[in-house]
Amino acid sequence: MAESREVLEKLGVGRIGRHILLCAGPKCCDENEGQKAWETLKAEIARNGLGQGETVCFRTRVGCLRLCQQGPVALVYPEGTWYGEATADRIPRLVREHLVEGRPVGEWTLAKNPLKEPVGGTGE
Ligand code: FES
Repeated sequence: MAESREVLEKLGVGRIGRHILLCAGPKCCDENEGQKAWETLKAEIARNGLGQGETVCFRTRVGCLRLCQQGPVALVYPEGTWYGEATADRIPRLVREHLVEGRPVGEWTLAKNPLKEPVGGTGE
């Protein structure tokens, strides 16, 4: 089994520029619809080369983002952009415009909440 450090390096940890979280249901959307969105997200990130290079886009499927409606729900950091109805047919545009070109898709945005400096500093 590979050392944790090797696995983290392979994943691009240390080079992550964006992180997209996707809730694929079951409360916010039909599970099949959520699964299709997740598969499309993984494929589009790979197709656009976002999983490698100087700056990596990390992607994580989560169990719930607590909105529990208008799913699949996507959340992109560092911008803190919340997307509703991040369905498989919308994912390619979301990936291209937000994750590749850095322009959040305003018409699909539910909320914005960029992260602030943590209370007590960054721990550096
Ligand atoms: S189940 Fe998707 S946000 Fe709660």
